[in-house]
Amino acid sequence: MLNKLNPWKTQNKASSLNERILQVKSQEPPSHIAIIMDGNGRWAQKRSLPRIAGHHEGMKVVRKITKLASQLGVKTLTVYAFSTENWKRPKREVDFLMKLPEEFLGTYLPELVEENVKVTMMGYKDKLPPHTQRAVEKAMKDTKDNTGLTLNFALNYGSRAEILDAVKDVLNDCNKGTLEVGELDEETFSSYLMTSSLPDPDLLIRTSGEIRLSNFMLWQLAYSEFWFTDVLWPDFSEEHFVEAIEVFQSRQRRFGGV
Ligand code: FPP
Repeated sequence: MLNKLNPWKTQNKASSLNERILQVKSQEPPSHIAIIMDGNGRWAQKRSLPRIAGHHEGMKVVRKITKLASQLGVKTLTVYAFSTENWKRPKREVDFLMKLPEEFLGTYLPELVEENVKVTMMGYKDKLPPHTQRAVEKAMKDTKDNTGLTLNFALNYGSRAEILDAVKDVLNDCNKGTLEVGELDEETFSSYLMTSSLPDPDLLIRTSGEIRLSNFMLWQLAYSEFWFTDVLWPDFSEEHFVEAIEVFQSRQRRFGGV
């Protein structure tokens, strides 16, 4: 938006974001970024709005950040949209959160298709309301051959449940004789997780000042870089996203080595 009082400031800010984008692009951006989008409720509360208004605003931010991630050449963006624990919230809020994927995909799917984005989902899909399942399945079907950014929704996702289910599947395969215990290594175990087709996240972003993982990708985040910000998710901007990547690029990843 043009700052009428200080157009130079606005222009300078805009061009510096573009410069930062170019810089980040030239230095190998993280391949997989995972985001815990926290603070929607507080954002709404601060404005005396119902919590769902914060989620709705947060949905628009997902669109904005998807576009930028795509532009930056990020391969996968995983967004934590609903956890297996979020069912404990008031029914009105849960119902609203279950309608958001429909609204998001109903509004933005044509643009996502145009931008070559592939939509995927991880989580317990069968336990979602049928209307939510239909919206996600349609988006996955319409974008399955796209080769650009993968936008991966963590919906009704919980990492401990995911790991337990993987352990059960491993035991079943061992009992059936299709897997030898001795064959089980980290790579094989990863293939039993919901992220079997995805690389581990390089960078985790969590907004709203909370410094915890909240049952999110516990196995997959073992070697990821973490970036936390006090900014509430609905206020999260392109500048914040670029800043997170700049910090990531300034860090030295050693994966346990020296
Ligand atoms: C946590 O904030 C956020 C969630 C539980 C929902 C996240 C959902 C979105 C950002 C909407 C995007 C969804 C789609 C389908 C594009 P909180 O409600 O716990 O915030 P609080 O800690 O301030 O109460």
